[in-house]
Amino acid sequence: MSTQTESTNLRKVTTRRLTEMKQRGEKISMLTAYDYSSALIVDSAGIDVILVGDSASNVMAGNVTTLPITLDQMIYHAKSVIKGVRRALVVVDMPFGSYQGNSKEALASAIRIMKESHAEAVKMEGGAEIRESIERILCAGIPVMGHLGLTPQSINKFGTYTVRAREEAEAEKLLSDARMLEEIGCFAIVLEKIPAELTARVAAELTIPIIGIGAGPADGQVLVMHDMLGINKGFSPRFLRRYANLADIMHQAIANYVADVKSADFPNAEESY
Ligand code: KIV
Repeated sequence: MSTQTESTNLRKVTTRRLTEMKQRGEKISMLTAYDYSSALIVDSAGIDVILVGDSASNVMAGNVTTLPITLDQMIYHAKSVIKGVRRALVVVDMPFGSYQGNSKEALASAIRIMKESHAEAVKMEGGAEIRESIERILCAGIPVMGHLGLTPQSINKFGTYTVRAREEAEAEKLLSDARMLEEIGCFAIVLEKIPAELTARVAAELTIPIIGIGAGPADGQVLVMHDMLGINKGFSPRFLRRYANLADIMHQAIANYVADVKSADFPNAEESY
């Protein structure tokens, strides 16, 4: 690899660069990470945006929903990720309960994330209902990524993880929320589990990047790392493409280690001092 290519590749990703990528038609890759070691690998593989997602509640803490994870826990994950990242933009999910109360509380939560983790942006689920909170956070100079469509923090309201905005009224609300998020200054929007046609419409109309998950082609795509690497084998929706079966590989490696310890094959002379 030439020095020129290397330095181009290592150029830090910023919110502004994401907009330029959309203008050039260059797709944006986004993936979750929750710890230092994973962040090192994800960043060095060339991911543009790392999301410290509240999906940590599911894949790291074993909860059924994203609701239980706390602000302190999100900051802990974000601090660990930041130390492993040189190039990607790091976005941190504002957890359930840290921004829905009122806009002052929302700003205080966002400030804690930025100050304590050194992350570069926050992500918030919802549209018109949380407009005031988003505006207050944006006014403080904190970049906000929106999240519409299937919003897992509202699972108890909807009661299901099925595709959203199939009906015209919900699609119209999503469109109007997306327009509002762009208008007030969000730098990008995640659209989760909605019809591809609606995603295409939003992406064509808005100038900010639209990142899809289960939402068909968009300006970029995001997946949960544990899902796409096959660490989390219990989750296999239609939209998920698995790039590895790490659960099987890890299981076999650990079983081999157990066998080697039990048979006294490990450690051998070369592995001893
Ligand atoms: O928490 C998360 O991982 C997310 C993605 C699914 C977009 O919000």
